[in-house]
Amino acid sequence: MRSAQARQIGNAGVMSSESVINLERRDDGVAIITLSNGKVNALSTAVLDGLHSIANDLAADLPGAIIVTGGERIFAAGADISEFGGPEEGAAITHKFHDALGALSALPRMVIAEVAGYALGGGCELAMACDYRIASTKAVFGQPEILLGIIPGGGGTQRLPRIVGASRAKEISLSGRQVAADEALRIGLADEVVEHDSLRDRSLELATSLAKGALVAQGLAKEAIDRGLSMSLDEGLAVERYVFTEVFRSEDSQIGVKSFLEHGPGKAEFTGR
Ligand code: COA
Repeated sequence: MRSAQARQIGNAGVMSSESVINLERRDDGVAIITLSNGKVNALSTAVLDGLHSIANDLAADLPGAIIVTGGERIFAAGADISEFGGPEEGAAITHKFHDALGALSALPRMVIAEVAGYALGGGCELAMACDYRIASTKAVFGQPEILLGIIPGGGGTQRLPRIVGASRAKEISLSGRQVAADEALRIGLADEVVEHDSLRDRSLELATSLAKGALVAQGLAKEAIDRGLSMSLDEGLAVERYVFTEVFRSEDSQIGVKSFLEHGPGKAEFTGR
């Protein structure tokens, strides 16, 4: 096994052998977060607390790249509907989603969603909080909250239109219909679709390759892109001027430029610093 360290979080949100979410840190620099909460991988408050805590752990000791995955048939079936009640419960749940998914998406590394099956409601929102979605041909996305008489509360009203455009996001969210893998690819909800049996190989191929890259620069590029999305072009360009200056403080920028001048493109061996 290539795992250097593993961490499991159980239902009470503490370390447990019956985990609902698991973190594996591999020796090749890839961290894999796996949801494992019962039959349908519901994103209960315990899972969200666990995800938040794992994201904090990763922020404190950054890996090279992160994969978020769920089950073979169900990536995640969304919020745990049995925890719903009135506005008070609703407020608690939406805050937990925003906090956990916000902490995950703020990690200055590529976060890849590996979606083998259903990614519905909060499952789709979790996948969208990741930087890149690799889906199996069996994956199904959707925001079916409307069929329960409610709306997405895990970031879906904001992230879905940023990914697929406002009109498509409204059609998907107001109908609650399911989006199969081929359509998800076409509208940009999935970035790649691969054969079900090749899914892990492909997500690891991408993650291990990124983990060997110039990690400080990766984090700054991600930050500039994400911050720029909520700004005017001029404000975003100001962010770019700042991070482009900052990136030259990294060891890898010196290594990368020197290697290019001496050996040509793509030969640099980065340190991640
Ligand atoms: N929260 C809590 N329980 C859930 C759940 C959720 N999000 N999704 C499914 N379940 C439960 C079902 O009630 C069922 O419970 P039971 O075994 O006690 O009857 C069990 O999980 C299995 O669900 P079922 O629908 O029978 O499984 P399936 O394999 O036929 O379908 C899904 C799987 C994910 C496609 C389907 O369960 C589904 O559409 N779930 C709801 C998705 C949703 O609306 N998410 C948004 C939540 S706001």
